[in-house]
Amino acid sequence: MLQGRLIVVVAVVLAVLCGGSTTVAETGIGVNWGTMAFRKLKPSTVVDLMKDNKIGKVKLFEAEEEVMKALMGTGIEVMLGIPNEHLSLLSSSPAAADMWIQKNVSAYIYKHGALIRYIAVGNEPFLTSYNGQFLNFVMPAIQNLQQALVKANLAGSVKLVVPCNADAYESTVPSQGAFRPELTQIMTQLVQFLNSNGAPFIVNIYPFLSLYDNGDKLGYGQMPIVIGEIGWPSDGAIGANITAARVFNQGLVNHVLSNKGTPLRPNSPPMDIYIFSLLDEGAKSILPGNFERHWGIFYFDGKAKYPLNLGLGNKELKNAKNVEYLPSRWCVASPSSDMSNVANHMKIACSVADCTTLNYGGSCNGIGEKGNISYAFNSYYQLQMQDARSCNSDGLGVITSRDPSVGACRFILGVTDKGSDSSASQITTYKYHLCILLVILIIQWIL
Ligand SMILES: *[C@@H]1O[C@H](CO)[C@@H](O)[C@H](O)[C@H]1NC(C)=O
Ligand SMILES: *[C@@H]1O[C@H](CO)[C@@H](O)[C@H](O)[C@H]1NC(C)=O
Ligand SMILES: *[C@@H]1O[C@H](CO)[C@@H](O)[C@H](O)[C@H]1NC(C)=O
Repeated sequence: MLQGRLIVVVAVVLAVLCGGSTTVAETGIGVNWGTMAFRKLKPSTVVDLMKDNKIGKVKLFEAEEEVMKALMGTGIEVMLGIPNEHLSLLSSSPAAADMWIQKNVSAYIYKHGALIRYIAVGNEPFLTSYNGQFLNFVMPAIQNLQQALVKANLAGSVKLVVPCNADAYESTVPSQGAFRPELTQIMTQLVQFLNSNGAPFIVNIYPFLSLYDNGDKLGYGQMPIVIGEIGWPSDGAIGANITAARVFNQGLVNHVLSNKGTPLRPNSPPMDIYIFSLLDEGAKSILPGNFERHWGIFYFDGKAKYPLNLGLGNKELKNAKNVEYLPSRWCVASPSSDMSNVANHMKIACSVADCTTLNYGGSCNGIGEKGNISYAFNSYYQLQMQDARSCNSDGLGVITSRDPSVGACRFILGVTDKGSDSSASQITTYKYHLCILLVILIIQWIL
């Protein structure tokens, strides 16, 4: 039943994408690069990974210095995000907007600099669950930032956009969708601004379905649309697995490729699709679900999860090169010890490290009780940079040089963050990605 519905979801998404082919110009494929991971690859390693895979567009959730520096001179097109938390200040202070543009845009744009094409003002700031707290900041922030871009002489090359989530929509029937009543005014202003500026409307997955059925919304039917986030997680829930993720993402890309021959629409920039996402992020909030840490087409360490032809020149994904792994050592449950007192240790380990694959629907669910313990111990041990003390747990853990991975269940080996970018940024933005559950609910509701 579940399977059937998910297949329907894939079919509906693809069908709607296909159905829109007459209005689609040449589509570019990019990726979302989020950095909420405990142990991160060096930004330069990630940038090389993108280059090896000929990925020419990237969407970032904020301006991290090391990331921006690594992108300089690469020719990779950047959509640079501003976290919602910054919108209040930027809306009230033109000086703060000037500073933001100076420090986070101008500083990286010069000869052989970063190719910043869009600035995403907030991330899904109209999400219902934010209770309107960012609503009134968006347009004033846009105005201040636009002025700042003009002053910096960048207004011609850098466009302001706002990634919107599906729930900006409301309707009894999706094809007759309209924006939520409280958003009508701001959406009208936003679309007017984008249109006058030649900037696209950015949607994360679902509004795209409705928008396509309803191209003339607010009287701007010719408005180019970019999909800011679309993808499928590979773990952490029923229906989130390697096969399903591969089928979805390859189907998406194939559709995009099949449009290459479509005549360009005059005067409208190409529509881009940013796959969500490039790498797994093991430090993300699992409020939306365990799958939230498994959206990557690559694992956190830059290993491809499955063969995927992005249509950019390589038949398959290429793994990251020169990844600096910690030594080949894992921490597992001691075979000889009595594990009756292990619960607390496991709890501590999994409250810090990522154990999401152990749960129902996950790739490591079903490895047995000892397997569970070993998995938790190891995740914690790797997180602690293989500090021997972190594998003790009152004598319950032992270090082994044999990879304990079983079948599809992958025991991680940490990567060094030597020379890596600054410590994990404490982004508090909750991104309620449209999760599988929601997909199922929506489809149920449509049918
Ligand atoms: C630049 O962006 C970073 C990341 O979002 C932010 O922390 C910082 O405050 C910004 N700089 C300025 C001057 O606003
Ligand atoms: C993966 O999920 C799909 C549904 O999304 C299901 O049909 C398939 O059986 C699953 N595969 C595995 C190996 O669990
Ligand atoms: C392993 O842990 C998972 C997640 O807590 C749990 O669902 C599963 O039942 C555990 N397996 C055993 C054999 O205890």
